Amino acid sequence: MLSFRHVRKVLREPLETFERLGQEANGEITRVNLGVSRPYLLTRPEHVQHVLRDNAANYPREGMMWKPLTRLVGEIAGEGSEWALNRGIFQRLLSGPNIASVTDEMARTIAEGVGHLAERAGGDPVDSQAEMTRIVQRAIIRIFFGGRISLTEADHLADAIRTATRSIGFRMLLPFVPLSVPLPGDRSFKSAVRAVDEVIFPLVEEARRGEAKERDIVSMLIETKDEQGRSLNDQQVRDGVVAMFTAGTETTATALTWLWVVLDSHPEIADRVYSEIDEVLGTEAPGRSHLPELRYTKMVIQELLRVYSVGWVIPRTSVADDVIDGVKIKGGSTILISPYLTHRLHDVWPHPEVFDPERFSHSRSKGRHRFAYMAFGAGAHQCVGTLFFTVEAQLIASTLLQRFRPVVRNENPIKPQVRLTLIPKEQVQIVLEPVGRS
Ligand code: HEM
Repeated sequence: MLSFRHVRKVLREPLETFERLGQEANGEITRVNLGVSRPYLLTRPEHVQHVLRDNAANYPREGMMWKPLTRLVGEIAGEGSEWALNRGIFQRLLSGPNIASVTDEMARTIAEGVGHLAERAGGDPVDSQAEMTRIVQRAIIRIFFGGRISLTEADHLADAIRTATRSIGFRMLLPFVPLSVPLPGDRSFKSAVRAVDEVIFPLVEEARRGEAKERDIVSMLIETKDEQGRSLNDQQVRDGVVAMFTAGTETTATALTWLWVVLDSHPEIADRVYSEIDEVLGTEAPGRSHLPELRYTKMVIQELLRVYSVGWVIPRTSVADDVIDGVKIKGGSTILISPYLTHRLHDVWPHPEVFDPERFSHSRSKGRHRFAYMAFGAGAHQCVGTLFFTVEAQLIASTLLQRFRPVVRNENPIKPQVRLTLIPKEQVQIVLEPVGRS
C-alpha cells in the first residue's frame, strides 16, 4: 500500500502528487493512505472495466464529490431513476441524427463567433479559454436553446459556472472529506450556484408561459414526464439546463485551449493539421460534408484528450465487498479511476509522454483494450456528448485554422492543474496571426 500521510501535500501539489502515486502504483490496485481515508486507485483497463461495466451496480456515483456537483447540475450527476430520465433527454438531444441535422447550422454559428474574434486578430493577445467559451456557448445557445438565452445572460452564466467548477477541485481529489469539513473553494462554489440559479429560474418560468420550440432543451424538459407520468418541476428543468451548459461548455472550451498549446509546441504536427485543412476545405467554409475527411485533425483531438484528459478523474463508491484481480475491495470505500493515469501506463501507451496522434490511426488502434482510452468515461455513464464534442471541436479548429495561426504568448511552458476539469495552470494568451502573413 502506498503510504501517503499528509492530505496537506495533496492540497499543495494535487496533480503532481496524483501523478506520482500513479507511477508508483504502476498499474497495480493500490490503496492510498491519506490518514483519514484510504481510497483505492485503479488504473489498468481491465480493472476499470470491472468497476465501470462488469460490476457497475456495485460502484455507484456517491459521496462528497458528487453531492456538490448534483447541487450544480442535478441528478444527471447521480444514479437511479432521475438520472435515467435525464440521461434519456440528453441522449435524444445529442443523438447522431439530431446532430447531423444541426451540423451545418452549428458551422455557421461557429463561423460568426470566429468572425467576432477575427476583429482582434494580430493585435493584443486574447484569453483563449474565455474566447473559446464564447464560441462554444454561441453554438449551444443557437442550436439547443432556440435563442431563449441572450449572449449577456450566457456570459453571466458562464462566469458563474466557471467559478463553481473551478471551486470543486479539492472535493474531487478528496471525495471522502465530509461536507462539514470545509475545503478550499466551498464558499465560492455555493455563491456561484446561487448566481446560476438567478439566471436560470426566471428563464424556466418564462418558458412555461411561452410556446414550445423544436430542438429546444427547455421545451423538452418542460414536456418530459417521469415514470409516474409527472412533469418535471422548476428545479428539475433548471438542473437539465445547467447540466447542458456545464457539461457542454467548459469541457470543450478547455480542450480547444489545450489544442492551441499543443499546436504551438509541436510545429510539425501543426503543419500537418494546416495542410489537411487546406486540402480538404480549400476556400470553402467548413461544413458537415468535410468532417469525415478531416482525419488527422480528429486524431490530433483524440491524442489531445489522451494527454490532457479534461475529465481527469472518475470517482465511485463501492457498496459491498468485492474482489478485483485477486485484490479485496472493501465495501463503502472510495474508488478513484483516472483517465489521466490510465492514459500514461507505459505498457498500454508506449512512450506516453510523447504527443503522437498516429496512435489513433486505424492500424495502431487495433487490439487496444476498450477501456485503455477513457477520455469520455465508459459504461452506463459514458459521456453522451462525445459526438457533439467531436463535431464541434473539428468545426472550431478548421474554421479558425483556415484563417489564422494561433500563437501562444505565455513565457513559460503551460502546465495542467486539476479542477472539475483539467485546466491550464495559467491563463493561455494567444494571438491570432492571419494566414499568409509571416
Ligand atoms: C472534451 C469534452 C468532454 C469530455 C472530456 C467529457 C468527459 C466526460 C466523462 C469522463 C464522463 C463520465 C462521467 C462518469 O462516468 O461519472 C462524461 C459524462 C457526461 N457528459 Fe461529457 N465530456 C465532454 C463533452 C461533453 C459535451 C459537449 C456534453 C454535452 C453537450 C457532455 C455531456 C455529458 C453528460 C450529460 C454526462 C453524464 C452522463 C451520465 O452520467 O449518464 N459532455 N463526460
